[in-house]
Order: sequence, then structure tokens, then C-alpha cells
Amino acid sequence: MQSKDIRERYLKFFEKRGHKIIPSASLVPENDPSSLFTTAGMQPLVPYLLGAKHPAGTRLVDVQKCVRTGDIDDVGDNRHLTFFEMMGNWSLGDYFKKEAIEWSLEFLTSKEEGLGLLSSRLYVTVFKGEDGIPRDEDAIQIWKENFKKHNIDAGVAGEDEIIKDGVRIIPLGKEDNFWIAGQVGPCGGDTEMFYDTHPEEGPVIGKFSDLVKSGRIIEIWNNVFMEFNKTSDGKYEKLSKPNVDTGMGLERTTVVMQGKSTVFDTDIFEKILGEIKSKAQKKDERAERIVADHIRSAVMIISDGVIPSNTEAGYVLRRILRRAIRFIDQLGINKEEILSIAKVVINELSYAYPVLNEKGNEILEVIQTEDEKFRKTLAQGLKEFEEATRENKLISGKISGKVAFDLYQSKGLPIEIQMELGKEKGLLIDMKEFYDEVVIHHQKSKAGSEQKFKGGLAGTGEIETKYHTATHLLLASLRKVLGGEIVQKGSNITAERMRFDFNWPEKLTQEQLKAVEDLVNEKIQEKLPVEMLELPKEEAKKIVTTLSFDLSKYGDVVKVYKMGDFSTEFCGGPHVANTSELGHFKISKEEASSAGVRRIKAILE
Ligand code: ALA
Repeated sequence: MQSKDIRERYLKFFEKRGHKIIPSASLVPENDPSSLFTTAGMQPLVPYLLGAKHPAGTRLVDVQKCVRTGDIDDVGDNRHLTFFEMMGNWSLGDYFKKEAIEWSLEFLTSKEEGLGLLSSRLYVTVFKGEDGIPRDEDAIQIWKENFKKHNIDAGVAGEDEIIKDGVRIIPLGKEDNFWIAGQVGPCGGDTEMFYDTHPEEGPVIGKFSDLVKSGRIIEIWNNVFMEFNKTSDGKYEKLSKPNVDTGMGLERTTVVMQGKSTVFDTDIFEKILGEIKSKAQKKDERAERIVADHIRSAVMIISDGVIPSNTEAGYVLRRILRRAIRFIDQLGINKEEILSIAKVVINELSYAYPVLNEKGNEILEVIQTEDEKFRKTLAQGLKEFEEATRENKLISGKISGKVAFDLYQSKGLPIEIQMELGKEKGLLIDMKEFYDEVVIHHQKSKAGSEQKFKGGLAGTGEIETKYHTATHLLLASLRKVLGGEIVQKGSNITAERMRFDFNWPEKLTQEQLKAVEDLVNEKIQEKLPVEMLELPKEEAKKIVTTLSFDLSKYGDVVKVYKMGDFSTEFCGGPHVANTSELGHFKISKEEASSAGVRRIKAILE
């Protein structure tokens, strides 16, 4: 089944059951300053999920465009995309669990109207109850009845979450089966559907989370039963009428339907990757996938009226496009071909978004203009770089950090590119000096004028730099205090706070949090020097004990930051020169982020 058929069947199936087909909302949220892009199907519908009347009625179905750039560095692996589409059916105070579950199973299994998947390969999770909200007995009962229609006696897993002996329904806690977008808003328990991708391997037996991790079963659909509105003071208020919000990723479903192992092997990417490969001089699967994903995102973002700039959504678009251009170069593709790749993207998506046909030329122009701008900046910067390195500005075989900073600051030559150019000449950049300059410059510009910080290193202000360093101390402290193989699962820094996600199965106790906080402060007081080493990957691996990142996707030379003997990590920086600059570290919050992942928020005072 082609992705196009999946999309059409989904819309038709629910239309036949009283749902109005509504168009995708824009990728740029209206009236929502809290997010730059629409990241889930329910986001544009929040007001209606909270009770406002929707003009199209109480049953809706759509395919919503979404962009998530938090994982931009993971694009190229099997799963991550920056642009994707989410199919969803909605009940706004209309039907509830019974119909939602019944229709889900019907759509998944019906050969005539749905996907024709086998019910014998389906497994579902339900909310097991937590925080005063009871276990979802209704969902369990409804699933049992529906499996029965397929002659399946569905068993329910116990606390051990083990699938064996006919178990089909797995109750899980809040981290897995309670859905909310962000911190506040409409929310509720959910039920998720998983499909066995390898029945030839024999019966599905084992702990649920292990089976998901190994890819034996994969999630294809989530039905959220929205009963509450979580308010900013943390209370769950009962909604006057409950809603259903469902989300089924089109790309993910296509992977299952086409029996592929990655989204890049499906028909969604076939022509786009075909074009890229036919224009490339080199083969590099990761680069090809990055170009394909990024051009797809860029085309869709531009079609919603965003143009590249140095702020907000425009800046994200700029980063996506420039990253695509660098990988286009890496593949040896002629620079003009960016437009032929974009044309294929437009062709591929225009059946679902006819506006792409109307705006096609406009979109190509935006891409071309940005391409030219970026290349001009690069060309000018390259000339300066050549001169700088020729004019004997090398200090003990290194490019001075001051020179690198000047090229970055006044010529707009991104530091990553300087590092690559240096590498070609067998030269390293004195990165410690570079970051010293970043900090000094920032202090100066803060004290003096309103001068804006130009170039690609947004967010390297003095305060953010401190938070970067604090993140390393926090990770090392977590490892010491909790004694486990803790790795970073995510990190987000603003001038106000740091946020850090890591793998850990349960809530941290007050004692553990206090011990972590104390250890970070101890290391600040020890005034540890922060050293940056640029090492061949194999050398680096010898000194970094636990990997937070998949190194295969980095270049041959990687950067390692060392803070005394306490912390040694791969990292792109920037960092302060000495931990004593951090002040006082304080944890403000510890909470669940997702299954098996905890999130700590902390501030420097
Ligand atoms: N809102 C739910 C999700 O995005 C359906 O998974």
C-alpha cells in the first residue's frame, strides 16, 4: 500500500463514520507564542479540546503537518525526521472510548476500508492509573471485547509488564500512557497500539519495554482519552465533556505497511532520494538522508510563509537549509541542484498540499536566495581564512582563537566550517581561546552597546556558556550519586535555566537530589580548569567512559571537554575556562520526561 493510499483510506474511513475532514493547520502556530512550530496534531485544536465550538462540528479527521527540530542532529538514523505528518481523528465531547477503540481496531484490520493488518500481531497498552487517577478498566474491557470479535482471548499483563501466554493488553504508568503537550492543557490517559514486525521469529514473549526497544513491536497509533485540563498550578480539572485525540504517524505507518526497516526506504522518500543519489558524486547514506529530510522540511516551512532570518522560525529554517547545503556539498552535488531536489519534493507533496503548485516558484526563489547568501558568506570568509592562516598568525601550529573569532564575528564564517577547513590543512583552532573571546565579547557588548551577536553561534552568550559547563558537572554527579550508566537523553539551555534529560527508571529522592546538587557545587568550588582536546575519534573513545551520543555520525576528529578528573565528555562546547565561574548551582525541579527518562531543571545563581 502506498503512503498516498494510507492517507486517503484514513480520511475516508472516518468520514464515513461522521467525521468532517479538515485541512492541516499551518506549521506556524497561530496565537501561540510558546512554540515556533506545530509539533503534534492536537496543537492547533487545543481551544476546541478545552470546550470552544469547532465550526466543522464534534467529529473531525485530519492529517496535520508537524515539524520537530529538537532532534535535528539525529536525522539520518532510522527514525528521526524534522518534518512529518500525523493522522488524527477527534471527538470534541462526542464519542469516547468505546467507539474510538472499536474504530481503531477496525481501521487497522479491515482489508476493505483500512490497512488490513493482522489482529494476531497487535498489542496494546492502557493507563494503569497513578496520582489519584484510577486504572482504565473501561479501556481494558473494551479492548477485550474487540479482540474477542477476532477470536482472540486477550490477557492483561501484570506489574512485571511481561507479554506471554496470550497477554495482549499491557497497563503502564503515567510516563508511558498519559498524554499532555508540554506542561499545561488538555490531557488524559491513553491507549497505544503496537504491531509485531517480525512474526517469523516466533511468539512475542518478554518484557514490553524490551520488545519495543529491540524493534520487535513498534507503536503505530495513540488514542488519548482527554478528561482533564492541567492548570499552571499543577491541578487536574475535569473537562465538562471528555474528548478523544488520536495520533498516527503517516511515515511510521508506511514503514509497517511496506515492511521496511526505515522511513527512508518507503515510497515517501523514494523519488527524493533517487534524485539526490543521481546528482551525487559520492555515496554517503547519512548525508543523503539529511538532505532529503531537510529539503522536505524547508519546502513545507517556506510554503507556510516563513523566510530565512536570524530570529525564531526564520532562524530554524535558515539552520535547516544551511545544514542541507553543507551536506549537498559533501555529496559532491552541484550547487544548482538544490532546486531540482526541491522540485521533486514539491511534486511529491503537492497531491496532499496543492498550494505547493501555486507557490512552487516562490519557494524555489527563497531557497535559491538563501543558498546564494550562505555561499557568499562562505566565500568571503574562506578568503579571509586563507589570508589569516598565510599571514603567519599561527601560534604553535594552531590557528589563534582570536583570529578564528574575528572571522566568525565580523565575516560570518561559522566556527564548525573553520574547523573543517583547518582540518584540511592539518591545523587545529585554539578553541579555548576562541571561547574566551566569545565570553569577553559578550561581556563587552552587554556592558556597552546593544550590539547584536552575529552568525551561527546563537545562544553562546556568557550565561548559556556557563549552563553548558554546568550540564557536564551535573551528568558526572548523577553518575557518581546514582551509580548507574547514566547518559544524556536531551538538553536545553536558555539564559534563565538549564534542562537535562537522562535515563533513570524512577523518581529521584530528595536525598539523591541534594547529594547531586552538593557534588556539583563542590566541583565548582574546587575551581577545576576546563580543557578542550581535539582528538581522533578512536583516541577520544579511550578517555571517555560512557557515551551519551552515537559517535558514528561525527567526523573523524572530535572534541572532548575535560573538567579536572571529574568529567570527560564529547561535546561541541562552548564552555567556561574554569568551573569557578559558575557561581552556585541549584536544582529547581525533577520530573518524568518520557518512559525511563527523568528531567532535571536547574539554575545558576
Ligand atoms: N496527541 C497524541 C500524540 O501526539 C495523539 O501522540
